[in-house]
Amino acid sequence: MGEATIIVLLHYATFFSDCIQPTMPMKRFCLTLILILGFQTAATLNAQQVPQLGKASIEELVSAMTLHEKATLLVGGYDLGKNPDGTTRKKFAAGVSMAIPRLGIPFANYPDGPQGVNIVTTRKGIDKKLYCTAFPIATMMAGTWNLDLVSEVGAAMGNEALEYGNDILLAPAINIHRNPLCGRNFEYYSEDPFVTGKTAAAAIRGVQSQGVGTSLKHFAVNSQETFRRENDARVSNRALREIYLKGFEIAVKEGKPWTLMSAYNAINGTTASENRVLLTDVLRNEWGFEGFVMTDWTTTSYFPRNIVAQIKAGNEQMMPGRQYQVDDIEAAVAKGTLSMADIDLAVTRILRVLVKSPSYKGYKYSNNPDLAAHAALARKAADEGVVLLKNDRNTLPLKDPHKKIALFGFGSYNIYQGGTGSGEVNTTGIVNIDTALEEAGFELQKDLAATYDGVRIDFKIGEKLAKLRASDCDLAIFTIRRNAGELVDRREIKGDFYLTNNEMASLTNVSEAFHAAGKKVIVLLNTGGVIETASWKGLADAIVLPWQPGVEAGHAVVDILTGRVNPSGKLTMTWPVAYMDVPSSKNFPSNFEGNSWFKGPVRDSFDPNKRNEGYTEYEEGIWVGYRYFTTYGVPVSFPFGFGLSYTTFDYSKPVVKAGKKGSYTASVTVTNTGSVPGKEVVQLYIAAPKSKLEKPARELKGYAKTKELAPGESQTINITFDAYGIASFDEAQNAWVTDAGEYTANFASSVEDIRQSASFKVKKPAVLKLKATLR
Ligand code: BGC
Repeated sequence: MGEATIIVLLHYATFFSDCIQPTMPMKRFCLTLILILGFQTAATLNAQQVPQLGKASIEELVSAMTLHEKATLLVGGYDLGKNPDGTTRKKFAAGVSMAIPRLGIPFANYPDGPQGVNIVTTRKGIDKKLYCTAFPIATMMAGTWNLDLVSEVGAAMGNEALEYGNDILLAPAINIHRNPLCGRNFEYYSEDPFVTGKTAAAAIRGVQSQGVGTSLKHFAVNSQETFRRENDARVSNRALREIYLKGFEIAVKEGKPWTLMSAYNAINGTTASENRVLLTDVLRNEWGFEGFVMTDWTTTSYFPRNIVAQIKAGNEQMMPGRQYQVDDIEAAVAKGTLSMADIDLAVTRILRVLVKSPSYKGYKYSNNPDLAAHAALARKAADEGVVLLKNDRNTLPLKDPHKKIALFGFGSYNIYQGGTGSGEVNTTGIVNIDTALEEAGFELQKDLAATYDGVRIDFKIGEKLAKLRASDCDLAIFTIRRNAGELVDRREIKGDFYLTNNEMASLTNVSEAFHAAGKKVIVLLNTGGVIETASWKGLADAIVLPWQPGVEAGHAVVDILTGRVNPSGKLTMTWPVAYMDVPSSKNFPSNFEGNSWFKGPVRDSFDPNKRNEGYTEYEEGIWVGYRYFTTYGVPVSFPFGFGLSYTTFDYSKPVVKAGKKGSYTASVTVTNTGSVPGKEVVQLYIAAPKSKLEKPARELKGYAKTKELAPGESQTINITFDAYGIASFDEAQNAWVTDAGEYTANFASSVEDIRQSASFKVKKPAVLKLKATLR
């Protein structure tokens, strides 16, 4: 009982003895009254005196907090989940920030993830299931190259997060597609940091427009799942700056995420969450980040982390959080290894974010977002993300009313709408390809449907069956389906990167039989990541890549097949001829049999000295993706930026003009020269003059998607960039350097398909020296 309460009780007691000579029952009544009134008044006085979040300044709040309260805020609520009334709190999201009701600090809920909001579907007191919308996977969203659309989808995700009572969405995830076999590539955007950063900034702006926050993750260099919690990524300063940090830099500066999530892995020997250079010198001092950093979901008993080092590094919140971490903080202060100033800074940064949260604002969420409208948006997004990889002899669109389709492959009947792991979404009403084809009026060969429904394991379509179907159907559609996700990297084996023997034999037989009958074969790739295509692509007349397109999957596929929508998606990564053509393949845990999760506690199986498990050498440096293939002239199956359309586009002669403060504007006019409306992704690749640094032949420094251009219609695209945007990182000077000299601005339809070029001069070199270095 506080001092104020005692004063109040004394006051009532005096009043009582002065005024009344009570009987016993009366006495009891009066005493009860005294206590009730006393407590109520005390509570009121307490609330008036104790600073409240949002009303008092954060400084006042921090000085009113006990050490225990501060420590509680710095540690997530994994095993501390109590409601303010003392009942156990049922978590409905991956993470919880603890409430301190005395100070008006709310619980805050943090759900995953990049493809949509991931919450549990059941909640006490609510009799309906709480479903969320699965939008197209992140890779596919980036592949729309349409930043407004990315923001629109972000806003819809933010709205669902809000309407289901959440505060910070654990997305977007922006690690670089260093290698095609990273299990989580589907959650990430691209092999290119510019596309990555721009897409992330657009997604962040969208989500945050709804008043909920984002957590940009996993900062940084989390490029493999194998031993992801312990792996030490050994990367040069240049590759860090140009490839692995650049996307984060753009997203932080342009998107202003409320929070970041530090990665599990170490970078050059220091765990990301304990890395002060990364979290303070680079993130805050160089890039101006103003939010707070949370750890990735570290099970600290298996993977020891130094909480003092984490807080000192600038990692404010430890997730998912365990009681003993609170104790550790208190003990560290008692021992003098952690200062109150460090704690106060971390608390201040968290409170500055929480005061913006819906939970703080007491937002009355409905548990009823407009899922129908969001499904329509998911379809629109998927329509723009599908990539047309091949279309010989105008196989597509399917203009003629085909009587009958022979629909092969499990994915045709049961599509993978998204990847696996924390980024999964409990979605409902997934539209399959067979359903959507029938809805659109196509007739499907019935026995095939029954076979794929009945047989559960991979099987071969023999020559006989292929011929039979070629005789009674007009067209073959063959879906190849792959899935991957968190915890496990993919493998360079048949059934994953390669087709299985049965898939290859089936596709060969179908292709031969249908072609012999003068009929065509379309292959659909229902995958979250890159697979080998060079050896079999000749068997198909058309290849369509719908990725993992979210809840409206089948509709999006049929929109493209029928030409209701003209494809305008483009690849945000290179599809190599062979896996070993990818430079990082020599230093990636290919065909690794296990991982830290499935093998149990890491100490049993983790060997810090084992290549690609304990540590990974990023020996390829900056030569990631097209930067390598284009510069070294290595043939690819499908290049970065590639994607066909049902129409054709002409690019005018471009102009590059120097503007103020070292900026440039590159302009080109694009005209639809075909016969159907369509959108074009205009890509600007800059080639730098020769200098002492070896540089990629060209690098993406800008892009824009046209509006839908009617046949004959034109649009002028203006892309602005500046000297900093075209700089390279010189390790010798620890500086971003823009050389003087003649540069070329290439306007292109893919990195290998330059349509027009113009040169421009940088008159004076620019050097931006940095203090921080991570190696
Ligand atoms: C993943 C994060 C995710 C978190 C919470 C971690 O294992 O790496 O991406 O946000 O779990 O589910």
